[in-house]
Amino acid sequence: MIDTAAIKINRVAQSSIHELDVENIPFAKIYSDHMFIADYRDGEWRDLRIEPYQPLALSPATSAIHYGISIFEGMKGYKNADGEVLLFRPEQNARRLNVSAERMCIPEVPESLFMDALTELVRLDSQWVPNHPGTSLYIRPCVFATDEYIGIKPSENFKFIIITCPVGAYYSKPVNVKIETHFSRAFEGGTGYAKAAGNYAASLYPAKLAQQEGYDQLIWTDGKTHQYIEESGTMNVMFIINDTLVTAPASGTILKGITRDSVLTIARDWGMVVEERPVAVKEIVEAARRGEIQEAFGVGTAATIAQIASIGFEDERFQLNDVKTREFSNKVLVELDNIKTGKVEDRFGWTYKV
Ligand code: COI
Repeated sequence: MIDTAAIKINRVAQSSIHELDVENIPFAKIYSDHMFIADYRDGEWRDLRIEPYQPLALSPATSAIHYGISIFEGMKGYKNADGEVLLFRPEQNARRLNVSAERMCIPEVPESLFMDALTELVRLDSQWVPNHPGTSLYIRPCVFATDEYIGIKPSENFKFIIITCPVGAYYSKPVNVKIETHFSRAFEGGTGYAKAAGNYAASLYPAKLAQQEGYDQLIWTDGKTHQYIEESGTMNVMFIINDTLVTAPASGTILKGITRDSVLTIARDWGMVVEERPVAVKEIVEAARRGEIQEAFGVGTAATIAQIASIGFEDERFQLNDVKTREFSNKVLVELDNIKTGKVEDRFGWTYKV
């Protein structure tokens, strides 16, 4: 049993909050004063502590560096009108972290440890939670292997850290995406459903090639046939065609996004027809050719809703309709924001007061 009440706190001598221009917050460039750290050794999480945000001292033989034995989460915190801090569905992040952990031979982080660490850290740095429209505190828990060992085997030592940073918009404008039919993000039996560091590393080269062709990001397709849409960039992806919200099922190759689930829940609550089913590339390309895609957008923690301006497929590029005219995605973004900041009733019980 871990005594989470025993989190030791070592405060910064002086806060660096004055470096933050609240009117102009970039994405993840300035970090809050403190970080949480716990060490796993001899089969237990130990030495729970909050320290000033600082570099970590690691052996050059650290197994996470060599083999990518590393998982992470992303979530956000907001201020309500009374200045209280609300986190959005953090227990879902705790659960998903442990789904990723199992796949990567990383020990479980008990939900109580996750929640207590998070609560203490965000409480201590609550002045870092911005309240300007479009801003939030991005929270990044991460667990990685720290065995000092060059051989490949499951590690016996790990660090669990949480860092936070105030953020503004992840994308400054709607994105142009290319349907990728050569490279794969994930494949059956792989790690696609886990928030594993290596998934993101492997996505960079194909995305870089697409950027050289003038795109911002990719729409990933299934690794076997490249005939079905999976995700977009680092997000889940949704389309509205024939007034129906369509998205790929969160299977073994697709991350079970918390924003994805929230958008689908709200859509169903509003009486929208929602289909979670395989989405063929052919269906999307043909709908785009006929001008029948009413809306297309990525959904993820960092961006919340990332509007898709155009979709490229082989030699064709389809300009979609003006994002301002997109009823559902604009409305759901406002609704999510209102729930996260306590402006409307939290009818799904999604917010957690720190
Ligand atoms: C998120 O959307 O929070 C993610 O984890 C993606 C990351 C690349 C910012």
